[in-house]
Amino acid sequence: MWLQFTARVKTPYSHTLESMPTQHRIIIGDSQKMTELGDGSIQLMVTSPPYPMIQMWDDLFGKSDRKIALLWRKLDRGDEATVRKIYDLMHENLSKVWAETYRVLADGGIAAINIGDATRSINGKFQLFPNHARITEVCEEIGFTTLPYILWKKPTNRPKYKGKGAFLGSGFLPPNAYVTLDCEFILLFRKGKLRKFEPHHAERYESQFTKTQRDVWFSQIWDFKGTRQKVSELERRTAAYPDEVAERLIRMFSVKGETVLDPFLGSGTTAKVAILNDRNSVGYEADPHILPTITSKIEKAKIDKDANVIISKRP
Ligand SMILES: C[S@@+](CC[C@H](N)C(=O)[O-])C[C@H]1O[C@@H](n2cnc3c(N)ncnc32)[C@H](O)[C@@H]1O
Repeated sequence: MWLQFTARVKTPYSHTLESMPTQHRIIIGDSQKMTELGDGSIQLMVTSPPYPMIQMWDDLFGKSDRKIALLWRKLDRGDEATVRKIYDLMHENLSKVWAETYRVLADGGIAAINIGDATRSINGKFQLFPNHARITEVCEEIGFTTLPYILWKKPTNRPKYKGKGAFLGSGFLPPNAYVTLDCEFILLFRKGKLRKFEPHHAERYESQFTKTQRDVWFSQIWDFKGTRQKVSELERRTAAYPDEVAERLIRMFSVKGETVLDPFLGSGTTAKVAILNDRNSVGYEADPHILPTITSKIEKAKIDKDANVIISKRP
């Protein structure tokens, strides 16, 4: 199939990588089952799921698993065990997607998961829900190897009170103030062994990054000072990550012509960045109302790169 970037040798008649159209699938459906994808067919997964115990995602988790919605209702009279159960069920929900990701990733493929921990007061008790730790445990149980992760410093996470920066707890007096969560995690996992390439592999060499990019991208703390992009209302509602996050990860962990999966596509950032960086992509999004946002977000990249985009809705 000539449209796929599988050729390892360029003939005088072959197109350059940049001029060949890439393939993109947007599937409106639940990524807990990715029946459209074969085992080992994806080289990289880049995503940001709904964050357990962050209020904006409560309804989504409740709709996905009725037990979660029922437990929230019970919580008025509830106890610590109920809170734990809700947190466990939210992660059980996500873990089905991590297990499917493991199946569809090729040997040596990487999974990059952007996740934030959550702080929340429930029934008067303030506590941390360490989502990054739970996802790491789950992914190890599934079979992934945990790799060193990235801390993405997000200055905008600092809580505000009357327009000014505020700290949680009791101002300047010890000991009851809380540390502010101003970093999110980008967890990195590998399936199986390191990938192998033949010497002088053309697409791999065409995908190389600069020394500065390597030094910045592979350092543990990412701080996008001065590179903040405008975010639309709908992107805010889907908690979209900046293009820069997807771009770094795609260029760090895949080669031009390979396929990137985002099982929680949201506004379509991963698909757009995959198009612009000459990768193929597959994105799953459960909420059909987001489709117009996705299509408008990827439109310019699609035209500029002459990319092929197929949209399908599960019945
Ligand atoms: C945090 S947002 C992703 C934001 C995305 N990275 C972006 O830049 O726009 C998570 C998205 O996952 C979707 N979602 C949640 N559960 C899903 C599932 N099981 N299958 C597919 N999509 C799901 C939600 O509707 C939401 O749009």
